[in-house]
Amino acid sequence: MGLFYEKLVRPALFQLDSEHAHELGVDALALLGAMPPLCRLLEAWNRLPKAGVRPVEAFGLKFPNAVGLAAGFDKNARAWPAAAALGFGHVEIGTVTALRQPGNDRPRMFRYPREEAVINRMGFNNQGAEAVAARLARRPGPGHRRIPLGINLGKSKVASLDQAVADYLASFRLLAGHADYLVLNVSSPNTPGLRQLQDGDRLRELLGAITAANRDRAAQPGQTRKPLLLKIAPDLNFRQIDAVLAAIAEFGLDGVIATNTTLERPGALAAVGEAGGLSGAPLRRRSTEIINYISRATSGRLPIIGVGGIMDTAAAGEKFDAGATLVQIYTGLVYRGPFFVRALARALADRQRT
Ligand SMILES: Cc1cc2nc3c(=O)[nH]c(=O)nc-3n(C[C@H](O)[C@H](O)[C@H](O)COP(=O)(O)O)c2cc1C
Repeated sequence: MGLFYEKLVRPALFQLDSEHAHELGVDALALLGAMPPLCRLLEAWNRLPKAGVRPVEAFGLKFPNAVGLAAGFDKNARAWPAAAALGFGHVEIGTVTALRQPGNDRPRMFRYPREEAVINRMGFNNQGAEAVAARLARRPGPGHRRIPLGINLGKSKVASLDQAVADYLASFRLLAGHADYLVLNVSSPNTPGLRQLQDGDRLRELLGAITAANRDRAAQPGQTRKPLLLKIAPDLNFRQIDAVLAAIAEFGLDGVIATNTTLERPGALAAVGEAGGLSGAPLRRRSTEIINYISRATSGRLPIIGVGGIMDTAAAGEKFDAGATLVQIYTGLVYRGPFFVRALARALADRQRT
């Protein structure tokens, strides 16, 4: 099946501009998601054999398998209802910002097939928290879904760093009720200043405000506290990661997503002039290194979603060996196609069994 994609479908898709191919993928999944009986059939085909397989449990949620769709693919919550049919065990939508915004000028997404990499500078193009909340409200909510749904929140471009906390709070208020878990994304390289929110006082201010809002929300009748995760960049050094971990511990966050795309340009990519974040195979090692560091620093107690350069089952296994509880993919889907999800989920379940 993977060969079918790589020999027939991928060459056709790679004739198209990257973002156009991506939009076709989102449209196809949106169409599939509108056909629940077909989704259930595909989901049953992808389901892991029961014998010896436990669901993954993390931050109070149950995941039918360990593989999730990373943020950035489904920015506007159009594709996620079909994610379980592809074999995913969870899906993260977004990044969503409080305000609707167009993102950077196109072209803004580039493939590098020899390196099995992508560079993107999308710039959080999305329809905004209100429109995304309205779309989510038309579908089954938390507790009624096939798989957990994470919502990844970012800062609107027009919000200054000093307005960032209010901006995230506005998104939180509109979207928390629709999420199984929430992610504070402070690590995309394409919104000027965003990564500065990973620094000391600014990070503590953001985490303090959102965790307080989460507590206040949970105190309302019928509401629950939502698991909150932080998504970090691979370009932090270990001293900076220590500071991030201290803030995560101080405010009792539920986990970390490691990592986002990198600003590094290793090997032949050094000659590439495109600005943006690099993902795919060249990110694999650094992201695993960070997962490993976090796992050791927290004695394995902080749930880690490992993401970055999972292009084969060995790379996913490596993330688990490093301490990840769950993994996510994006660029692997571009290069390996939709059947890759099932192959990964099975390979990881087999490891659990042995
Ligand atoms: C085109 C593109 C857009 C992305 N957009 C987002 C985003 O909006 N928010 C986010 O947190 N990560 C975003 N990411 C990062 C991915 O979620 C992931 O962290 C990163 O690509 C590394 O994983 P991979 O090597 O499997 O792609 C994006 C990645 C790509 C390739």
